[in-house]
Amino acid sequence: MLNIALPKGRLGEKVYAMFEAAGYECPSIKETNRKLIFENEEKQVRYFWVKPSDVAIYVERGAADLGVAGKDILLEYEPNVYELLDLQLGKCRMAVAAPADFHDDGERTLRVATKFTNIAANYYASIGREIDIIKLNGSIELAPILGLSNVIVDIVETGATLKENNLTVMETILPISARLIANKSSFQFHSETMEEILQSLRKQVDQR
Ligand code: PRP
Repeated sequence: MLNIALPKGRLGEKVYAMFEAAGYECPSIKETNRKLIFENEEKQVRYFWVKPSDVAIYVERGAADLGVAGKDILLEYEPNVYELLDLQLGKCRMAVAAPADFHDDGERTLRVATKFTNIAANYYASIGREIDIIKLNGSIELAPILGLSNVIVDIVETGATLKENNLTVMETILPISARLIANKSSFQFHSETMEEILQSLRKQVDQR
């Protein structure tokens, strides 16, 4: 049985549709209930809905053979998994944002609020800027408004959240999209099935 961790939500539904098109359908997954796990005995496949930021943990530890995780999560936590394919879904970017009137004089330590401490630390290390990282778990946009930080490092998709909180993008750190990931030993063990799925998904991405 191949175990596949899908990120709960709209992205996960799109990803499931791709697996379905690859021949790994599991019709019961479309029933609207609060069940988290679905299997198709005949196809030897089992899907489960996971909080998007937890997918890489399931895959790294082998509870899932395959999964789909954002590049942000892969860069932040650096899980020991194979990254097989850019699905080109869930596109957004990691950016530095601040109030429009903020100017970094480069002299004082920059206070950076973020959920993505590793990405922020690596980015500022790469440009040689000294920072003080303030780890938050949500509503990051509040931090510069209340003077908790000078800037934030966060995900920007449409830009609406920044706009509504009077913040602007100062730098784009990197583009983000959803990636197909595999557990390393499962990839050896199920290599034929995984290659077949990978080929089909790659074709679907290319034909989009
Ligand atoms: C992310 C991010 C921003 C928002 C950006 O949060 O932290 O708040 O999306 O999207 P926008 O540019 O389209 O406005 P998310 O909705 O993922 O929830 P979270 O606060 O739980 O991270």
